[in-house]
Amino acid sequence: MARITAGVTTSHIPAVGAAIDLGKTREPYWQPVFAGYELSKQWIAEHRPDVIVLVYNDHASAFSLEIIPTFAIGCAESFAPADEGWGPRPVPTVEGHPELAWHIAQSTILDEFDMTIVNRMDVDHGLTVPLSLMFGQPAAWPVKVIPLAVNVVQYPPPTGHRCWNLGRAIRKAVESFDQDLNVMIWGTGGMSHQLQGPRAGLINREFDTRFLDDLTKDPERLVKLPHVDYVREAGSEGIELVMWLIMRGALDPAAREVYRFYHVPASNTAVGHIILENPGR
Ligand code: DHB
Ligand code: FE
Repeated sequence: MARITAGVTTSHIPAVGAAIDLGKTREPYWQPVFAGYELSKQWIAEHRPDVIVLVYNDHASAFSLEIIPTFAIGCAESFAPADEGWGPRPVPTVEGHPELAWHIAQSTILDEFDMTIVNRMDVDHGLTVPLSLMFGQPAAWPVKVIPLAVNVVQYPPPTGHRCWNLGRAIRKAVESFDQDLNVMIWGTGGMSHQLQGPRAGLINREFDTRFLDDLTKDPERLVKLPHVDYVREAGSEGIELVMWLIMRGALDPAAREVYRFYHVPASNTAVGHIILENPGR
């Protein structure tokens, strides 16, 4: 039987990917950012998952304003790194897990979630930067990845409540898959940031800290937050945080925080990162 053992959330800043790819991680600006992931790299090496369900948002790389799926699951054998304007990142192609992905698609759709099935999709910084932060620069990713893209780019994104319930449905799906697999769920994006307009550069440490606290201890409060609170408090791109609730909803209420990191500055974004373990592992 497959089981969800742990959850990881992290910001997915594209400039972090560029710093890795261009060998700048030891520069004074970037050093403290990467230092915050050293323990995480050790942890993931010790708790090696078989599969990651990686919840992220596509930033107009695979999709465009022509087609905007609210939730899209990648069921392909593999996913190439997207060209986001300066060539694809020099990272390995992502290997999928079609059998589990189709099972999750079937289970969640029959549970009344309108999941889009995607058989071909390039994956952008929302997915590849978190993999780089956790696994470094291997020749091949040491884990299979099921991409799960969420629309948070074009209004209206799904509510936090919908995301939470999708997380619960993913847990049910994984636990009904009859292969013995260690599955992790990741949620990427956030924390507070706004990339355009008069409030560009907005960071809200107080909001972010409370979000991190409540993600572990009081996720039900976060589930009730309306979109306008994210935008007001965490900036227009802070809405990416709803994806963290998919991760949290897929974990046990008693999941334990084993690591946390928060750092400003990094590009335009407050870097937030949490590792949660399910009990009994
Ligand atoms: C930045 C952060 C993001 O999450 C993103 O998708 C693009 C840019 C930034 O901080 O620059
Ligand atoms: Fe983003």
